Amino acid sequence: MARHLITSAIPYINGIKHLGNLVGSQLPADLYARYQRARGHEVLFLCATDEHGTPAELAAAKAGKPIADYCAEMHEVQAKIAEGFRLSFDHFGRSSSTENHELTQHFAGALERQGLIREVLEKQVYSNADGRFLPDRYIEGTCPNCGYDKARGDQCENCTKQLDPTDLLNPRSAISGSKDLEVRETKHLYLRQSALRSDLDKWIDSKSDWPVLTTSIAKKWLHDGDGLQDRGITRDLDWGIPVKKGDADWPGMEGKVFYVWFDAPIEYIACAKEWVAAGKGGDWERWWRIDKGADDVRYTQFMGKDNVPFHTLSFPATILGSAEPWKLVDHLKSFNYLNYDGGQFSTSQGRGVFMDQALEILPADYWRWWLLSNCPESSDSEFTWELFQQGVNKDLADVLGNFVSRVTKFCRSKFGEAVPESGPYEPEDHALINELAVKVADYERYLDTMEVRKSAQELRAIWVAGNEYLQRVAPWSTFKEDPGKAAVQIRLALNLIVLYAALSAPFIPDASAQIMRDMQLDALEWPTDLNDFLDQLKAGHAFDVPDVLFSKISDEDRANWQQRFAGGRS
Ligand code: MF3
Ligand code: ZN
Repeated sequence: MARHLITSAIPYINGIKHLGNLVGSQLPADLYARYQRARGHEVLFLCATDEHGTPAELAAAKAGKPIADYCAEMHEVQAKIAEGFRLSFDHFGRSSSTENHELTQHFAGALERQGLIREVLEKQVYSNADGRFLPDRYIEGTCPNCGYDKARGDQCENCTKQLDPTDLLNPRSAISGSKDLEVRETKHLYLRQSALRSDLDKWIDSKSDWPVLTTSIAKKWLHDGDGLQDRGITRDLDWGIPVKKGDADWPGMEGKVFYVWFDAPIEYIACAKEWVAAGKGGDWERWWRIDKGADDVRYTQFMGKDNVPFHTLSFPATILGSAEPWKLVDHLKSFNYLNYDGGQFSTSQGRGVFMDQALEILPADYWRWWLLSNCPESSDSEFTWELFQQGVNKDLADVLGNFVSRVTKFCRSKFGEAVPESGPYEPEDHALINELAVKVADYERYLDTMEVRKSAQELRAIWVAGNEYLQRVAPWSTFKEDPGKAAVQIRLALNLIVLYAALSAPFIPDASAQIMRDMQLDALEWPTDLNDFLDQLKAGHAFDVPDVLFSKISDEDRANWQQRFAGGRS
């Protein structure tokens, strides 16, 4: 048994996430967590809301609520939707927790002791029209690196370069659009990332199994141009984690808070402490401290590509720089973008399908299956209502659903609602089992290496193999000459339904659970020995013919949804 620590990039608190956000981190992380649990491994799967920073402040102001109340409410909203999608977090924490306050201040203190923090008199953009400093995301302008004209003050979405607000050309306030900006002096803390460059470089070189998307982004920012820059880790904001070194005040930094990108990844650790505080676990250090047993933990992070620099450089710089024995990430799985109907999903423009809306339309499994089997893995991918309809109807209704329904209904009509008495499997049955053994091994390999689309394809191929077997042996014809032989075939097919429930659970947990109920089995087991597994339903084992597992999306539904979502969300 291995131990897997799994984290998904923590979603910003301001608003409900869209399907592009979901498929870029939380959903594949959940697939992996469910799979590793199913294989009998010990898993700690953590996620949280990312609650600091200007966007949160502004969203609260817009909602007319005190920021702390706003965050508490939105956290509950996001937690509930996550449950709706069956995201199986062991804990869904909050970056504003006391645990994260303490840990973030602790790391700042440790970095200072290592001589990695310097104080800088910084020039910051102040907006006269807005009456405030405009940090990070609330300044828009042209990217000095690629020329994209909607780059934000913290990062260019187009080329992923991390930016400082003053780097932008033609800056304007994203709040008011005002160009009446001036630069004022204010003192800030900088993390001397540049001093850690060769450590980071060596560490990234040791990760030969990382996806190219991940290492190429990291290497680019380590070596291109002026290389890894020192980063400001404090901000002039009210809401956030007060700047302290450990418990001690930081002279000259009164009234300032840590930068959201400094404290957010530390929440991965704090979340494990919250998990213990919530009474769900006994020991968080054995997951996070290599001096406390975490040396045999395998830590995997999931995120969208825009998050890669923060996870390959900034957060590791915090950890390495602390000179304390914290666990570093072992594998980092990153995703491209999912587009929506010929454009981008956009939270600010309300463009696309948002998580709450998706669940109003269809159960989680439909979305989980389509999103995962079409996830933007090696390149960007696209959601259209046609593709969604096709995928759901073909894969879930025609292939999996149809198999389950044909087999159980045929058995009921010829033998009753229990596994029929029958002889041993025959050569053509063994041929199927052998074929499946190869496919299941491939499926496991893809899941182990987080090749999400390939694993979905393989799972579909496993469902298809069952349908092809049925066509080939045609128990409905066999039954006429040799009912005993048809009984053997139907016993195998009923066992295949259980196999499908077990293998499909990481993708479509609700359908799997429904199949298990109907097949009157309680524990989902992973098929480690296929011959045994496919012999587990014995003669006389009763079952119910399931209600329709997946209903098809009609052209009418599709057209309605297409129209409903064309206008964007208000
Ligand atoms: N909230 C960020 C985003 O949605 C992700 C933060 S990930 C963490 O892009 F590592 F900082 F926690
Ligand atoms: Zn750019």
